[in-house]
Amino acid sequence: MNKYINDFPLLLQKDEKNRRIDYLDNAATTQKPETVLDAVAQFYRTSNANPHRGTYDLSIKATEILESARKNVCEFINAGTENAVIFTKNSTEALNIIAQSYGSTFLKGGDHVVLAISEHHSNLVPWQIAAKAKGAEISYIYTDNSGIIPPEEIVKKITARTKIVAVAYVSNVTGRINPIEAIIERAHKIGAVVVVDGTQSTPHMPVDVSKLDADFYVFSGHKMLAPLGIGVLCGKKKLLENMPPFLYGGDMIEYVEEQTSTYAPIPQRFEGGTQNVAAAAGLSAAINYLNEIGMSNIQKIETTLTEYMLEKLNNIPHLKIIGSNKPEGRIGVVPFIIDDVHPHDIATILNADNIAVRAGHHCAQPFHAHLGVSSTCRASVYLYNTMDDIDRLAESLKDARRWLGFGSKRIVH
Ligand SMILES: Cc1ncc(COP(=O)(O)O)c(C=O)c1O
Repeated sequence: MNKYINDFPLLLQKDEKNRRIDYLDNAATTQKPETVLDAVAQFYRTSNANPHRGTYDLSIKATEILESARKNVCEFINAGTENAVIFTKNSTEALNIIAQSYGSTFLKGGDHVVLAISEHHSNLVPWQIAAKAKGAEISYIYTDNSGIIPPEEIVKKITARTKIVAVAYVSNVTGRINPIEAIIERAHKIGAVVVVDGTQSTPHMPVDVSKLDADFYVFSGHKMLAPLGIGVLCGKKKLLENMPPFLYGGDMIEYVEEQTSTYAPIPQRFEGGTQNVAAAAGLSAAINYLNEIGMSNIQKIETTLTEYMLEKLNNIPHLKIIGSNKPEGRIGVVPFIIDDVHPHDIATILNADNIAVRAGHHCAQPFHAHLGVSSTCRASVYLYNTMDDIDRLAESLKDARRWLGFGSKRIVH
């Protein structure tokens, strides 16, 4: 039994058959510990006011909570003095800000935006729009059949025409940790700006944005124990200071006259409208929770779970793991298919055993097309999962084909 599970009320709930949920959809979103739930409730109970707008104590308190969450985020990813942290709704919004504000301002006709074929749609569609608006082109770094980016692809695709490289640190489909340092080094060598989608890396491993030297780094709070509705755009101040705002209105201005306006300095320039202070407080509490365990320890816990899951799944007849079936160079995200059974049917069968996994294209259709599958099932772990969760998954999967009439009937206990 993993002791952390006791901190997560939802995971301790029992269903009508007295079963806990076996929650293995952590790449989609994570459950929230008591301390995060308390931080959100505490904000609304004791400190709720509009930040940055009032001169009275309660508003000042709300402002302090927001700004102290920002400081905690900066320290967590080591943003250093060169970078600024902007709060967004989620990674998708952060990536849209970069594509619209930086991309649409600085791209020119004939420029290349280089993406990995494994990108989540949130780091792909915004670039399609920005590139189209400016007559720029998108080119792709292709993975091999195991979802691994070969070093020669990096050199081949990042060329003198490349102005922006936008790549995920970790793939949400295969869990593969991409060679982000090599990508950043190559991009900077030819003068391109690098956007790192840290949505699947930040929750699962130590991240040092200053050391990485990423120009932009984004992530979503909800995939690392924080509430829904809070994300982070970390960017180099020297770039952000020269970018136009994304959302116009309250809070992001300096002076407004009848015909023109000037804008607030960063980060407020990119934080138009009232911010989600409760979610920021929750994100800060989530960071405290993760720090208390330690990101290296979290990575170790998850590596053990991933090794165990791969061992179990590799031994199930008719089950094929998509991407690499080895534990090295990845996080605990494992996509798989089973002969003759549609991934949605697998997920439905697992659900009957109160096991939650994701089925579909995981917002990465071009990557699925590249790998030659239309959809997969995806099991993904977090620090609160147990070996027992993996055993339950494996047991249920063993029966999946029989449920659908391949072989003898399922025995219901
Ligand atoms: C790699 C990656 N990038 C971006 C996103 C988008 O995150 P959100 O939906 O929180 O904006 C996800 C979500 O699954 C993801 O896994």
